[in-house]
Amino acid sequence: MTNRIFIGSDHGGFELKETMKSLLKDENYSIEDLGTYSTDSVDYPKIAQNLCNKVLETGDFGILICGTGLGMSMAANKIKGIRAALCSESYSSKMAREHNNANILCMGGRVTGPNLALEIAKTFIETPFEGGRHERRVQMLEPEDK
Ligand code: RB5
Repeated sequence: MTNRIFIGSDHGGFELKETMKSLLKDENYSIEDLGTYSTDSVDYPKIAQNLCNKVLETGDFGILICGTGLGMSMAANKIKGIRAALCSESYSSKMAREHNNANILCMGGRVTGPNLALEIAKTFIETPFEGGRHERRVQMLEPEDK
């Protein structure tokens, strides 16, 4: 469980980001919106990189939304220490936390409707990492420094 959730999107995820922001606030989560702030076209890697840096600085979770969630998850997973999970149902968002210790949830604004997205996000936020045998595997995800 995290205290605060950073949320970000490009234009393709803007509408779902706005809806998620309000639904999650209604459920008393503390949400910090890192943009984009309109439907004008923007580059998803920039939004992802900025949000990932905040997640690494604070240890809080992030939610990244683009049209499909694919570009956001690709951009986020390039960054050391980020484990981004693209989910379109809540079994995966549960396992992403339990087994993979994911710190970013990605979703597709043109793929997943708001009610399902809320369920996916709440499951992600509330599910703890199991640790144990998964700890070693999660550590193995990081490329060794050369
Ligand atoms: C923007 O049209 C779209 O390419 C973007 O939102 C995302 O889906 C990329 O993966």
